[in-house]
Amino acid sequence: MKTDNKSIKWKGIILAGGSGTRLKPITNIISKQLLPVYNKPMIYYPLSVLMLAGIRDILIITTKENINHFKALLLSGRKLGINLSYKIQKKPNGIAEAFIIGQKFIGKSNVCLILGDNVLYGQGLKAFLKNAMTRSTGSTIFGYPVKDPSRFGIVELDKNNRIKKIVEKPKNSKSNLAIIGLYFYDNSVVKLTKKIKKSHRGELEITDLNKLYHQNSNLNIEIFGRGFAWLDTGTYESLIDASNFIYVAEKRQGLQIACIEEIAYNNGWISKRTLLKISKENSNTDYGKYLLNLVKNK
Ligand code: DAU
Repeated sequence: MKTDNKSIKWKGIILAGGSGTRLKPITNIISKQLLPVYNKPMIYYPLSVLMLAGIRDILIITTKENINHFKALLLSGRKLGINLSYKIQKKPNGIAEAFIIGQKFIGKSNVCLILGDNVLYGQGLKAFLKNAMTRSTGSTIFGYPVKDPSRFGIVELDKNNRIKKIVEKPKNSKSNLAIIGLYFYDNSVVKLTKKIKKSHRGELEITDLNKLYHQNSNLNIEIFGRGFAWLDTGTYESLIDASNFIYVAEKRQGLQIACIEEIAYNNGWISKRTLLKISKENSNTDYGKYLLNLVKNK
């Protein structure tokens, strides 16, 4: 494993397709990843993770029906100091298809993929991300203990905490360590994705791709512990739980979670003037007032 990250360029992909069937009728006419998680569209959360990682070239992959909604919401990304591009996934052919759809976008870069419905929160997140990005070759996945392993990709570790086995939605598992929807890959990801075959559910499985990296001894894992929240948004109940979680945390601390304008400003990607302009556009809301406070206090 090489760790000379100076020469590597990282790009990001947010996969925000799928049909959101478990959230019908809410998702009848709108993408799941545009639904509110408390006070922001869901996609702000994964977008904020890529921005925290310092990634500025980002491809959003979504459905034909929804692509214009995403474009209307986030435009070119210029207001955030980032470059956004958009592509359609015709059918939910699997998470790994993102690398085929994004092949041209990826070019010679390494790539971080995040699922558009993943909400992550916890101190030290940025350090986890930056650490994964120091690996110029191979890949990094993230584990998170869950109560219901049969719903996720699961990783089993040996006694030295090295990856022993990865299984997609195991019926019975000795491990409770789920693989979250955040993955860092070197540039060979496109080539490797072309080697995998569709699974019995007709999808190019991200777990099959990770298995290939594992076979090549090129799969690393980082574990998010108790201090982290990885929230599910896939059902009515988990969606409202995620909203309540964000509401409680923001109310208590007075700090916004996944405030993409704040991150852009802290990263030095947008000026005070731009932040002020955005705060004025949102002046009727606590969100806008929060941005105005940032302008005043820094
Ligand atoms: O959330 C993490 C889990 O995501 C991992 O632990 C699993 O290994 C991985 O396979 C995946 O699990 P699911 O099968 O539950 O993923 P789901 O089909 O719900 O898709 C996750 C998100 O990705 C969802 O918002 C829809 C989007 N998606 C999914 C597929 C298959 C797409 O945009 N396109 C697709 O083709």
